[in-house]
Amino acid sequence: MKIALYPGTFDPITYGHLDVLDRASRLFDRIVITVARNSSKSPLFSSDERVDLINEVIKDVKSEAELVVKTFEGLIVDFATQENARAIIRGLRAISDFEYEMQMALVNRKLTGIATVFLMPHEKFTYLNSSIVRELASLDGDISHFVPPEVERRIKVKLNK
Ligand code: COA
Repeated sequence: MKIALYPGTFDPITYGHLDVLDRASRLFDRIVITVARNSSKSPLFSSDERVDLINEVIKDVKSEAELVVKTFEGLIVDFATQENARAIIRGLRAISDFEYEMQMALVNRKLTGIATVFLMPHEKFTYLNSSIVRELASLDGDISHFVPPEVERRIKVKLNK
């Protein structure tokens, strides 16, 4: 069974993430969407809320692969070993992502030999990230093009909109 981790902060999950997930699901049998309890960011949604939201969203996703959602703390390579994952999936949106992603991929490969598979989301999502979605939502901007309806609903509740 070919297993991959798809790690990230997912605060919140966007159509860009779902696009990468769709591409990854054609390459692997099982994808563990791995929500980082990231101490360097101050997420709007707690890790449990992010897991819950992703589960809600992927219910409607048609996928050839089995999709599961988990949280992790610590080194991503240790979690990959624990999950028997042979690869880490990362989305590459623009050249600006490259340097940071290459560094992470090389460090992770040095640590356990794990490969990182980079997938490019559809070009209509290249400018998208979760911070933009949160900022737009907080200023009453329309986020319906960027996130599924359930994410839009929950972000509005969270922000008391
Ligand atoms: N569509 C839309 N947005 C996307 C995207 C896509 N396809 N891919 C990435 N993004 C956005 C994210 O929403 C996020 O936006 P934000 O900064 O506004 O929150 C941003 O790009 C960064 O992506 P993310 O996937 O959240 O990465 P990250 O840099 O926050 O997290 C980890 C990366 C958690 C995987 C990494 O830090 C990690 O592995 N940490 C564990 C500790 C460890 O092992 N460290 C050693 C690594 S060498």
